[in-house]
Amino acid sequence: MAAAPARLVVLVSGAGTNLQALLDACADPAYGATVVAVGADRDGIEGLARAERLGIPTFVHRVKDFASREDWDAALTDSVASYEPDLVVLAGFMKLVGASYLPVLGRRTINTHPALSPAFPGMHGPREALEYGVKITGCTLFVVDDGVDTGAIVAQTAVPVEDDDTVETLHERIKVAERAMLVDTVGRMAREGWTVDGRRVRLGG
Ligand code: GAR
Repeated sequence: MAAAPARLVVLVSGAGTNLQALLDACADPAYGATVVAVGADRDGIEGLARAERLGIPTFVHRVKDFASREDWDAALTDSVASYEPDLVVLAGFMKLVGASYLPVLGRRTINTHPALSPAFPGMHGPREALEYGVKITGCTLFVVDDGVDTGAIVAQTAVPVEDDDTVETLHERIKVAERAMLVDTVGRMAREGWTVDGRRVRLGG
């Protein structure tokens, strides 16, 4: 009998094109994963609508609705954990998870970042790469830790910077590479497993 598909919870804050790439991949049973829920830190976003259109459960926790950031983090942890995920994918989720979340879910949570770590961490990877004048940037998939885009690296893809790039054209080119990296790597993690040894992440048993 085939193994049950890996359970993915995906967290989003915006357009959700990375989420959509995962949803499309999961439509093939051979991919080995299924999105069991999508969560967000804001409502009214296309990322949530993409899940709703497929009848996938969603949840929203807005920081401003909680007495403290710690309370928000605890609620997020409870919601994500309630879906018993094998892997949590932060796909354009513009919040840092915290002290409640990390001990429970940190080891099985990955985040995609639009720069080649350790360069340009934070919210403005494409803008900072362009301003610095690098000729190659890219995207990084990493296991979340308590830093800003500092976790152990699972995968990276290089993307050239063109002379006439704007922040928008560069970010769009990065996102094409990012979606391919995410789909390929999440599928391998789901089907083959992964190990983390210090900063070294290996796919496969
Ligand atoms: C992606 O490029 C992702 O790496 C980035 O937001 C975009 C989301 O696009 N995340 C960050 O910058 C987090 N620091 P999407 O909503 O279309 O998937």
